[in-house]
Amino acid sequence: VGIIAATVSFVPLSTSAHVDALFDGSVSCVVLLDRAFNFIRVNQAYAAACGRALEDFEGRNHFDLYPSDARAIFEQVVASGRPYRAAARPFLFPDAPERGMTYWDLALTPIVDEQGDVEFLLLSLSDVTDHVLTRHRLEESEAQLRALAGSLQARLEAERAHLARELHDELGQALTVVRLGLMSAAVDCAECPRSEAVTAPVRTMMRRIDEAAHTVQRLTTWLRPAMLDESGLIAAVEAEAASWQSYGRLRCRVRGTLPPGCLEPALDIALFRIVQEALTNVVRHAEASLAVVSCRVVGRSVVITIRDNGRGVDARVSTRRNALGLAGMRERAVLAGGAFDVRRRRRRGTVVTVSVPLRGERQAPL
Ligand SMILES: Nc1ncnc2c1ncn2[C@@H]1O[C@H](COP(=O)(O)OP(=O)(O)OP(=O)(O)O)[C@@H](O)[C@H]1O
Ligand SMILES: [Mg+2]
Repeated sequence: VGIIAATVSFVPLSTSAHVDALFDGSVSCVVLLDRAFNFIRVNQAYAAACGRALEDFEGRNHFDLYPSDARAIFEQVVASGRPYRAAARPFLFPDAPERGMTYWDLALTPIVDEQGDVEFLLLSLSDVTDHVLTRHRLEESEAQLRALAGSLQARLEAERAHLARELHDELGQALTVVRLGLMSAAVDCAECPRSEAVTAPVRTMMRRIDEAAHTVQRLTTWLRPAMLDESGLIAAVEAEAASWQSYGRLRCRVRGTLPPGCLEPALDIALFRIVQEALTNVVRHAEASLAVVSCRVVGRSVVITIRDNGRGVDARVSTRRNALGLAGMRERAVLAGGAFDVRRRRRRGTVVTVSVPLRGERQAPL
């Protein structure tokens, strides 16, 4: 048995300076095993990672010290003579369970003798526990944030729907009643002397009431498009497209159909908001003369695209931190178990694509 600097070799082995340097100088754990998995040589990095002294490995078998289901893999490497690699393989130290689950990148390389039989195995390991745990924590907090965003979104839409109902039912009806009252007062006064003194301000009031009713109507639709509940997503998108068209020079077309009941509940409003934001972007940024919204079922998904023939979106836009409109669209699509993409079209303009699973086809819960 020869102890060489930071490594130990448990059987007399003719080694070169290169091999010694590889063991001693490596920051990774390096272990040489015989074909029955007895330790032949380990380096200091391995002993330290195991919380042991170099001598503790002498005359020991790897799987006596560390029983694990990895034995089948080691046996396979001996039988096949083919190396094995794995990333972030979990391992629980039986002699130190308080360390919790640890994770290792590993490479197991067979060393063959002159007959081509596996004589030794070189095991190289890197402790990636910190990386894996950090990634788990990040994934967890991302999932929490997503769940929070989802519930905030749902609450926001519920509150908007409630406000829309209140505005429509209470304020809208009150304005109608006041208008009717004013109209009948104007009719009653028509025969009165100096009737003009009364009817002129009444007409002004009625005009103001009409404006207020129009504002209530606009706000109600913005808060919760009644069309969505009454006639479905396509009709609501058509109404939205028509309203954009009425503002300026943009022609806005809606193509395709969706079978009734093909969307999970609450997805219609999410898709409507995506189309609404995409059309807002076309009007604000695209300098386009035509926008086409198309809705169809492709395989097991509902796919909606919003194309325009404008100047085309900047390729780097999706990485911009303040691109909240696009981020919101992507978030809504991902929350729905779907996907979102925005890209410059080959010849001209931009295409936004959102796809969500058909009702009952969703893989994972929210
Ligand atoms: N259809 C489009 N054509 C050309 N550029 C677009 C189009 N849609 C988006 N963009 C570009 O992408 C950027 C990001 O869009 P995004 O909707 O995220 O933000 P925004 O519209 O600038 O602001 P807001 O947060 O109010 O939506 C826009 O500023 C614009 O430069
Ligand atoms: Mg926007």
